[in-house]
Amino acid sequence: MCGIVGYIGKSEKAIPFLLQGLEKLEYRGYDSSGIAILNQNEIKIIKKQGRLKVIKDILDGKKELHSHLVIGHKRWATHGNHSDVNAHPHLSKSGKISVVHNGIIENYINLKKDLTKKGYEFKSDTDTEVVAQLLDSLYNGDMFETIKKATQLLEGSFALGIICADYPDTLFAAKKDSPLIIGLGENENYIASDIPAVLSKTRKICRLKEKQIAVLKNSDINIFDFNGNKAKMEISEINWNVNAAEKNNYDHFMIKEIMEQPEVLNATISPRLKDYKIKLDNLNFNEEYLKNLNKISIVACGSAYHVGCVAKYFMEELIKKPVEVELASEFRYRSPIVDKNTLVIIISQSGETADSLAALREAKKLGARVLSVVNVVGSSIANESDDVLYTWAGPEIAVATTKAYSTQLSLMYLIALYISKTLGKITDDNYKDIIKNIESIPEKITAILKKSSSIEEIAKKYYQTEKIFFIGRTLDYAVCMEASLKLKEISYIHSEAYAAGELKHGTISLIDDKTLVIALATQDELFDKTISNIREVKSRGATILLVTTEDKMDKISEIADDVIYVPKISNILSPSLSVVPMQLLSYYVAKFRGCDIDKPRNLAKSVTVE
Ligand code: F6R
Repeated sequence: MCGIVGYIGKSEKAIPFLLQGLEKLEYRGYDSSGIAILNQNEIKIIKKQGRLKVIKDILDGKKELHSHLVIGHKRWATHGNHSDVNAHPHLSKSGKISVVHNGIIENYINLKKDLTKKGYEFKSDTDTEVVAQLLDSLYNGDMFETIKKATQLLEGSFALGIICADYPDTLFAAKKDSPLIIGLGENENYIASDIPAVLSKTRKICRLKEKQIAVLKNSDINIFDFNGNKAKMEISEINWNVNAAEKNNYDHFMIKEIMEQPEVLNATISPRLKDYKIKLDNLNFNEEYLKNLNKISIVACGSAYHVGCVAKYFMEELIKKPVEVELASEFRYRSPIVDKNTLVIIISQSGETADSLAALREAKKLGARVLSVVNVVGSSIANESDDVLYTWAGPEIAVATTKAYSTQLSLMYLIALYISKTLGKITDDNYKDIIKNIESIPEKITAILKKSSSIEEIAKKYYQTEKIFFIGRTLDYAVCMEASLKLKEISYIHSEAYAAGELKHGTISLIDDKTLVIALATQDELFDKTISNIREVKSRGATILLVTTEDKMDKISEIADDVIYVPKISNILSPSLSVVPMQLLSYYVAKFRGCDIDKPRNLAKSVTVE
């Protein structure tokens, strides 16, 4: 959600680095792009609505626009529409200070009123321009002191990159509730919203902690808290393969990430399973603590919430304690009944989702122990949780999540089994059988992926459909929610996920001969029930695409127009397989419709505003 990049170093390298860095962060927002250059003690700004290419074309051949100090931005609009004037960076009235920002300044209206009284005029509708003018109004020749003062006045969330014409050798940054990393180079240093932006230059990074200011020079970095006290810089080494953040030969990141699932699932599962024993890193839930638990509360947003919806079914079955699943944006604003006898599990790919982070803080305030399932190492959610389990999915660049969803789900299975076993709620045979089945997931997904061309054929048949329902019961219904979201977000086809038995309580009136119903029926004991529901919609004219397990082949009659088979696996694990053809179907449908798959309209990855 908005991407920031900044560079201080050598003039010939600055612009190429900035453009490359912004390109890597395009997934965070693509409504507009802009850069600010400190050139001969003057700040020059180039910013435009639209993709980065517009800026690249403007800069092309303009050798005079070089600088050793630059900041840049990719915007995901919150305050003010997509326009050149609302694009970042913003320049202060004196022309001396320029700012790029990710987050939301919640008190910007009041600040704007005060600044207007002082004679400041505003060109844009953004909250960020208020930051630039606030810094200008506070500036007394000492930029660090100015930033310190401003951070005390700003409410809300912000990651800021700041340059000042009087400080040609310094790049400033500040962070509160929005991610910001520092990359350490050789006689050059960088700031960015996320690691892929700096990966071509360095593997040494430092994540700014909450309420910190960074002062970067060519060969020296200092970090302070908002009170001006010096803070320790914790440097970590990124061990990803650079290819992990590249598209390689795939058309889109999304398909690359779908195809990576067997590998990343192996990386997430196998280190935690040995001789039928589950070892969840350093997590230690003793039996006494688990016995005293009244409930488990899973809190997340979007697809991560859908992982929770699947997990509720199997966790209750395995652990025999109530499991609640809640959207983080709801949890944080009601009065959740959570206390020290509640285990709160926060699921998040980015580890920076504003609502999930706020829910985490709320849960801790209420006395709950918080375990997070996170993909990005060292992210805010990981840092603030009592315990963290990482999904080893590697960088996920496509806005629509696929491999993060699958790895989150796999960890939820391990957590559920671990608790179930510790509490003695599962027989040895059942436990071993499920473990064996979990170990078979990557291989079975490989088998599904090998048949992707047949799913592409099905997508070709249906990509022009404008009304789609996904139906299923229990675990299949939970997968339908994710399947429907995936399709909507990248293909812009309106679809709905419905519990198969619920359709007839009203919504069936929408079914007609222009409707495609995608029915998931992988649960043995519910198969016939779902088939009855399929008959209900079939008789109202709907076309049927059925997703079921290979062992049901001889049970399928003429009822379905098309069938996708997935390998057989234990019932409770079937979501980890059935979601994969749904990801592929969404991908190919969107591709046939000519959609911008990795960067769907209005979206951005990592939602750091509430
Ligand atoms: C959908 C998608 C989103 C995220 C949601 C939470 O494809 O990716 O719905 O799942 O924004 O993000 P994280 O997992 O980063 O907290």
